[in-house]
Amino acid sequence: MSVGIDQVHVYAPQLALPLPALAAARGVAPEKLTLGLGVQAMAVTPACEDVVTLAATAAARCLRAAGVDPRTIGLLVVATETGVDHAKPVGIFVHELVGVGPHCRVYEVKHACYGGTAALMLAADWVRAHRTQARRALVIASDVARYAIGSPGEPTQGAGAVAMLVGPTPRALFLAEESGVHAANVYDFWRPLDRREALVDGKYSIDCYLDALASAFRSCRRLERPALEDGEGLLDRLARILYHTPFPKMAAKAHRRLLELERGSVTDADYEASYHALVAPGLTGVAQIGNTYTASLYVCLATLLEDEARVLAGRRIGLFSYGSGCCAEFFTGTVPTGAVAIGPTGVRETLARRTLVDVPAYEELLRHGERGGEPPADFAGDFVFRGIRNDRRMYAPTREVLAA
Ligand code: COA
Repeated sequence: MSVGIDQVHVYAPQLALPLPALAAARGVAPEKLTLGLGVQAMAVTPACEDVVTLAATAAARCLRAAGVDPRTIGLLVVATETGVDHAKPVGIFVHELVGVGPHCRVYEVKHACYGGTAALMLAADWVRAHRTQARRALVIASDVARYAIGSPGEPTQGAGAVAMLVGPTPRALFLAEESGVHAANVYDFWRPLDRREALVDGKYSIDCYLDALASAFRSCRRLERPALEDGEGLLDRLARILYHTPFPKMAAKAHRRLLELERGSVTDADYEASYHALVAPGLTGVAQIGNTYTASLYVCLATLLEDEARVLAGRRIGLFSYGSGCCAEFFTGTVPTGAVAIGPTGVRETLARRTLVDVPAYEELLRHGERGGEPPADFAGDFVFRGIRNDRRMYAPTREVLAA
């Protein structure tokens, strides 16, 4: 049975901080952030948005784009590492806001940035397990990436959500059944229960990421069918590769590691050519939105499908997911010949509606967090976080959504 992603849709907050402005405020060269990390801007969450409104907006637009009745969804899983309650899952708010019916499993999964892939894989298995019935799952990855002001992680923040409809005979990406995984207990990035911002051992997290990549990739290569010929690499069978991208330079480092793994050594010219052909096309969205933790890899997928679905029709791509802590997976998928039919995936729309903010405005928003409130006049989302009353979080559709 062919299972995969039927539709994918991205939504990120419309406020964005240009990284050269952050560099100037922190007294570092702008090139360190724009070239050294590869980030041009990062999305900043306004007071009226949080992981719930991000997830619900992405989900509602995903279902609309696919023409799917929300009441037919049988499984709703939200992956996040910045959830809003220790017990109540983000998904149950989304369930109400987008109108999913009562006969649906709803829950949240967590393993740092790997959570989105964990949710996608379990949804795919859930679809495969019911061969006689065509069932659809809604998987959402939603996060607000936060590091302390002035810390090395500060330029690698961002926010956004990706919703994916998972089902049989997908229109966006067929998922291969075999993949390579890697897990190990490491303390590279974590967020104790009482903290808003993550703690990170930045350089160590890069080493953990690259080690997990090598291990998961080797495992995927061993499981490859038909088996690789002598001298053939798995990369030779892939038209594009998407990596978990906390900042675009991480994807560049990852790609160099894979090339070295497959070819022994690699010249700078070979690396540049391979990076520009296989990796760079997927990175334009994340370079402008920043880190979205669980959603990051899938922002890259949405970018690729929006820009290149026609070119990639019938071709196979590789995807690498990494979550600190850690768990990682290297898997592949094939772009169906009908992929052009999924149309826009929200990346261009998100970037076209942006309002740039300065450093004082960004710091003010970060210090106060998402406390809820009225949306700004030009608000781009479908749902608003109104605030907390009697320890209960209050959400509502915007007037425009109610009127539609
Ligand atoms: N022009 C161009 N590049 C410059 C530069 C300049 N003026 N100044 C520095 N750079 C480059 C550095 O050479 C480095 O590139 P390299 O890694 O390819 O050598 C890059 O900019 C970053 O500089 P560095 O000194 O390493 O930055 P940092 O110590 O401030 O921290 C991270 C970088 C990624 C460790 C930090 O942002 C972080 O902790 N992020 C969160 C954790 C994370 O995302 N981990 C990823 C795996 S999950």
